[in-house]
Amino acid sequence: MKALVYEGPKQVKIVNVPDAKIEKPTDVLVKITTTNICGSDLHMYEGRTSVEQGKVLGHENLGVVIEVGKEVERVKVGDRVCLPFNISCGYCENCERGYTGFCLTVNPGHAGGAYGYAEMGPYNGGQAELLRVPYGDFNCLVLPEGAEEHEEDYVMLSDIFPTGYHATELADVQPGESVLVYGAGPVGLMAAYSSMLRGADQVMVVDHHPDRLALAEKIGAIAIDYSRTDPVEAVMEFTQGKGADKGCECVGFQCHDHHNHEIPNLTMNRLVQSVKATGALGVVGVFTPQDPNATDALEKEGEIAFDMGMFFTKGLRMGSGQTNVKAYNRHLCELIEHGKAKPSFIVSHRLTLDEAPNAYQHFDRRDMGWTKVVLHPNA
Ligand SMILES: NC(=O)c1ccc[n+]([C@@H]2O[C@H](COP(=O)([O-])OP(=O)(O)OC[C@H]3O[C@@H](n4cnc5c(N)ncnc54)[C@H](O)[C@@H]3O)[C@@H](O)[C@H]2O)c1
Ligand SMILES: [Zn+2]
Ligand SMILES: [Zn+2]
Repeated sequence: MKALVYEGPKQVKIVNVPDAKIEKPTDVLVKITTTNICGSDLHMYEGRTSVEQGKVLGHENLGVVIEVGKEVERVKVGDRVCLPFNISCGYCENCERGYTGFCLTVNPGHAGGAYGYAEMGPYNGGQAELLRVPYGDFNCLVLPEGAEEHEEDYVMLSDIFPTGYHATELADVQPGESVLVYGAGPVGLMAAYSSMLRGADQVMVVDHHPDRLALAEKIGAIAIDYSRTDPVEAVMEFTQGKGADKGCECVGFQCHDHHNHEIPNLTMNRLVQSVKATGALGVVGVFTPQDPNATDALEKEGEIAFDMGMFFTKGLRMGSGQTNVKAYNRHLCELIEHGKAKPSFIVSHRLTLDEAPNAYQHFDRRDMGWTKVVLHPNA
């Protein structure tokens, strides 16, 4: 089968690899119809992870089931399914409690497994013609009738829609509140969108890319361009000096100033400054335990200089981590099915697998207009 593999920093390539196949009786084999490039892929693409050469990337996957292992009972050949980026067993101590992003079985020695990702187990990704799905009965979200026409909405259930929602859940966003989102990439836009679905009164989004900020405005958020204005002061003005009720971090360890200099603690400390006393932060932007290629000495060890004093004084609380996609994907799917959510508004490019290496370059440079790339490997 054709697949996109990681070759080295800023090098991905389309090659022929052995077909994905059923390896265990609980597996399901999926022919991929839609798969996305994610901001998380860029950490690997830029050589900032330990991902091995030859790994097939792609963790935002949707397709049609073409074969099921002999122990699979629920999922049937022909089902159109969306796969959470997390691979989880369903029966470990963490899965039992809904923390499927921290499964203890699928990636021994670590809490959490995923397709096509550094440190997330031996699983190949879905930027390919075929994908092996472990524990198919547990992991497949079977999509409703008519999903074929709306794959660009449903594919967002694999990661970024639940992840944006997770940020708002961790930040405990309530109706009528003001929410501050750092990052207007796909995840930040989904956090802003989810805040509105939860009834937030005012949503502010900080970034410096005008095209991405324009999308934030299009869904009704207030755009704050941190290359033109001090974002902390801007939030104070928009909230009459009170600060935002809640904050979402949707950038991660590669956050930077508007000259592209990485300053790993920039967004976290600005959120602490901008969220009011007793507020809460949801941190879904990725921070890594080691970052050997970082220029910042602390960051090499996965640490940042965090404004703990102000965090404590304000009585803030914070939740973080990988999204437990299964905790949300069924209900968010209902919203799409019944026309109450349309996360495909962020899609900018629809391409074939062969066009993916070029798309990685553009998306990595955050070139104007490259908000979210959707690939159709079997088109
Ligand atoms: N927790 C999870 O399960 C999960 C899932 C998916 C993605 N992620 C992570 O979420 C983050 C965002 O993903 P994405 O796909 O939106 O990526 P992206 O890289 O496309 O978007 C990040 C955005 O942040 C902006 N940014 C950079 N520095 C900033 C700053 N100082 N202030 C404000 N904005 C700044 C960039 O301009 C960019 O638009 C990444 O770290 C990704 O790995 C986490
Ligand atoms: Zn993703
Ligand atoms: Zn588990």
